Formats: sequence, structure tokens, C-alpha cells
Amino acid sequence: MSNNRVVVGCQWGDEGKGKIVDLLAAQSDVIARFQGGANAGHTIHVDGRKYVLHLIPSGIIQPGKTCVIGNGVVLDPIDFRTELDFLTEEGIEYKGRLFVSPATNLVLPYHKLIDAVEEESRGTGSIGTTKRGIGPAYVDKVARHGIRVADLFEPERLRRRLDYQRTIKSRYLEGSTDERADLDRTYNMLLEMAEILRPMVVDVSLLLHKSYREGKVMLYEGAQGCMLDVDLGTYPFATSSNTTTGGALTGLGIGPKMIDEVVGVVKAYTTRVGSGPFPTELIDDCGEEIRRLGDEYGATTGRPRRCGWLDLVALRHAVRINGVDSIAITKLDVLDNQAELKVCTHYELEGQTIDQVPLDMAKLQYVKPVYKAIPGWQADTTGITSFDDLPEKAKAYLNYIADDLGVVIRVVSTGAKREETIMV
Ligand code: GDP
Ligand code: IMO
Ligand code: MG
Repeated sequence: MSNNRVVVGCQWGDEGKGKIVDLLAAQSDVIARFQGGANAGHTIHVDGRKYVLHLIPSGIIQPGKTCVIGNGVVLDPIDFRTELDFLTEEGIEYKGRLFVSPATNLVLPYHKLIDAVEEESRGTGSIGTTKRGIGPAYVDKVARHGIRVADLFEPERLRRRLDYQRTIKSRYLEGSTDERADLDRTYNMLLEMAEILRPMVVDVSLLLHKSYREGKVMLYEGAQGCMLDVDLGTYPFATSSNTTTGGALTGLGIGPKMIDEVVGVVKAYTTRVGSGPFPTELIDDCGEEIRRLGDEYGATTGRPRRCGWLDLVALRHAVRINGVDSIAITKLDVLDNQAELKVCTHYELEGQTIDQVPLDMAKLQYVKPVYKAIPGWQADTTGITSFDDLPEKAKAYLNYIADDLGVVIRVVSTGAKREETIMV
């Protein structure tokens, strides 16, 4: 039986999706990114090498796999070229196996400029975006004046669409001395990029459907995490795309029958980078220790990640809205030396105890977590490859999470390296 899987983050991003996608890519033929852009940073450690991918699917590290970037992604051509150069330096051949949808919207230098200006104007209410121009690029897409990959091959149309930006973005562009506001420069850069992208452009939906009919196995790679979803996350402290399973359908042009399994990636504790509510955040030595042991610094921006205990209330939301079948639990090893772990089972809000996220997500800011204490295993789990070899208390922790969420455990990750993994 074929097993076409979607991999989604179940928290606030950085759950370890890159590592999990790399592992599952070994069992797949086509790996497809469906949303987000270079705000993502997906890390893979293989044979002593570290790869951080932002736009290109994490399946590219597995030789010979077909990788596609869907229409739901926002592609920054400059970052894309940097990433291609990185692959070339690493001796990873991408030609003939990396494809891009013509309907993919572009992130252009002025989007980054606008991202920075908007963050500044939000003041204390800033989102803490990655400043990769993601929000402004999705705004253009929805407003129907975005520039798409297909426009690169029609220079007159491209020129016209860029000139129109001058009119609608005059507030940001007029009189600016920032080179990112220079549309002629952007136009010339795009003409250059057109030649790099031209051989990669295919009808992604058609490629996936044909592959599916031939019995090939698809792996759909999500970026960010459920709580950053623009509809169902902690809005407005969210990203600008649907990071959840539904995003795979619209971001690639596939139907629901082309997904057999939803794999949710869950870090064994919680992290968040940027602003916004985080009920189980630890602003103390324990949070510091988790950050140090987990090396919790952003793969894209290098910012320290906020750290805290596992939040089952938020995870119940993730499981429900994504239709999660199985979970991949990562970074178990980071908790090895804790004498006692805490898991948030409920929230208290306005005198009530609730077991689901509040009706009004903005109220997540005011909830008080209710914890269950779980004994720590205080033993080294790094590199363990068999579930049976885990300490009993670590098994109990994992089983408790899976039972509460009503899902099966597909993968347990016990280190950053590819081989430091339990495939259940
Ligand atoms: P992604 O955005 O979901 O792909 O995750 P990131 O790559 O941004 O962050 C996850 C970090 O944790 C990376 O540095 C990974 O190399 C690392 N990592 C992944 N799995 C494990 C694990 O099981 N143990 C440890 N110690 N590190 C891990
Ligand atoms: P991966 O795929 C963690 C966060 C930013 C900010 C908010 C909005 O590596 O898990 P944006 O630049 O998207 O407008 O920022 O979303 N954010 C992420 N946090 N992992 C990511 O991606 C993220 N991508 C965006 O920090 O709070
Ligand atoms: Mg990341």
C-alpha cells in the first residue's frame, strides 16, 4: 500500500521537521514544499555535515529524490539562488530533480523593506517576524497584484507589474534611498533569475498526479507550525500562510485522497521564537537550561528561542485541525537530566478550567497552565535507536503523550543526526 504523507509542525515551528522529512524522504519518491518561504529553517545532520534549508525541500539531501516547490510557497529568488549555490558547494546535484510551480508568488526586495518598516511601526506590538518579507508577499498574492514565477518569462508583463508596484507601494518606495526600493534593480535581477528558474518550471499539480498514478510515494513538507497558522494559530502573532494539512492541498493542487497519513512533528517540550502568547513558557533557570541543552537558537535568524514545558492543550488543537494520525517526537534527549518533567494538561481562564484552546485565541495570553508532574528518567537517551532500549520512564512520558492525543508514535528522535532515531 502506498503511504503518501504530509509532515506538519504541531507547535510554534522548529519542531525538527527537517530531520523527520529527511528520514521519511528515504521511503518516498517525491518531496513537496507547500507553503511558507525562507522564514523556514530546516536542519539536517548527515555524515558530519549540517544542512539548513529554507526554501528547497528537505528531501534534496537524499540522492535522486524529486523535489518540488508548490504554488503555496512564496519564493525569494535571491535566497533561492544562495541555496542552490550551497547545494552545489556541497556536491548535491539538483538539476533535473528540483521543480517549481509557475504559480508560485515571489518575495522581492521591497517585501523585505516593507516587512521591516511594518514591524517598526507595530512598536511594542511587533510580531517578531523573520523579516524575510513573508507577510507583505502573501498580502500581494491575496490582493492579486503579486508577481509570480510565470511572469519572469514574459518581460513586458513583468515590467508592467513591477511598475504597478510603484503606484500601490508609493508610501514605502517613493523617495526611499534603500536599494530594496529600486524597482529597476529588481527587474534586472529577475531577468537573470528567469534563466536559472526556467528549466525548473513545471505544472506541479500535474507532476504530483502523474507520480501518484504511477504508484510513486509522495511526502508533503510543511513549514512553521500549527500555532503559527494564519487562520487557526495565535493570530496576529502568526505567519501569513496555512501551515496546517489543508495548506498542502491548496499549496500543491492535490485532492485529499492523495494524503494517506498526517505525521505531526512534536518537540518533547515547547519552543517559540518571536512574540505572542506562550502559556508554558519558562522564564527561569530551567528554561535557560533547556535552551542551552537543546541549542535553541533560530536556524534562520539566530534568535534565542523561548522555551517551556510540553503543552497538551495546544497539541490537542494541532491534532484536531491537522487530522494528525501519527507523531514524530523530537529532542527527547534534551530532557535527559530533568528530575521531573511537567506537562500542561489544562488551562485556567476566567475562573474556568478548560482542556481546549480558548474560543478567542487572543485570550491564550491570559491562560494559566495546569500541570501534571511526570518523573524524569535521568539517563542518557542520545542515539538510542530502539524503543525497547529507552528508559521505562521515558517510554511512560512518550506513551502518556500519545494516549492523551489519541495518535500513534511513528518516530522518536534522540539526537540531531539522521541515525539518532527510533522508527517505531
Ligand atoms: P524545523 O524548522 O522544524 O526543521 O526545525 P529546526 O531545524 O529549525 O530546529 C530543530 C533543531 O533541533 C535543529 O538544530 C536540529 O538539528 C535539532 N534536532 C532535531 N532533532 C533533534 C533531536 O532529537 N535531538 C537534538 N538534540 N536535536 C535535534
Ligand atoms: P520553521 O519552518 C519558527 C515565526 C516568526 C514570527 C512569526 C511571523 O523553521 O519551523 P514571518 O517571518 O513568518 O512573518 O514571522 O512566525 N516563524 C517561525 N518560527 N519556525 C519557523 O519556521 C518560523 N517561520 C516563521 O518568528 O514569530
Ligand atoms: Mg526551523
